[in-house]
Amino acid sequence: MSFLLVKLIHIFSVFIYAGFLFTDNLILMKMQKTLSEDKYKEVRSYFAKLTRAIVPKALVVAVISGIYLFYISFGSFPQEYNFSSFQTLLLLKAVLGLWLGIRGVLQVFFGIQPFVFKGHRLPFILVIMIIFLSQIM
Ligand code: HEM
Repeated sequence: MSFLLVKLIHIFSVFIYAGFLFTDNLILMKMQKTLSEDKYKEVRSYFAKLTRAIVPKALVVAVISGIYLFYISFGSFPQEYNFSSFQTLLLLKAVLGLWLGIRGVLQVFFGIQPFVFKGHRLPFILVIMIIFLSQIM
């Protein structure tokens, strides 16, 4: 029961984070092509101000709920690293998710900019990969 509840929380928080990345990468990029530079800057700063209130928190919830789900789902650590394919994919998914989480927390809460891939395109691609991994798992 608590697994299902946490999984629901995980899916909703991921939904908010991925929705933000979708809008940022696809909708705002399109606007950039049609709006004047000043107008685009204004729209972007509005978007940043409004999303800043919720998106970083959703990412933190996604990571914390993910860690709990991982703890329940992963099963026992295999001897001699004989991971099942589920465990291998889950490990990969968790590493990518943690990377996104750490990157986002450092950026938003501590003002430390990412060392590589500074834009929002990499998180967008990673989220798509993570969603595929979660379904193949
Ligand atoms: C922003 C990053 C993340 C995204 C986009 C994401 C996405 C998803 C999605 C779409 C599901 C599938 C739900 C379903 O089909 O029922 C899922 C489940 C899961 N996620 Fe994440 N996740 C993220 C971060 C994490 C992290 C950091 C961890 C672990 C450290 C994690 C561990 C899990 C586990 C264990 C499951 C359930 C697997 C099962 O059904 O047994 N996730 N995630």
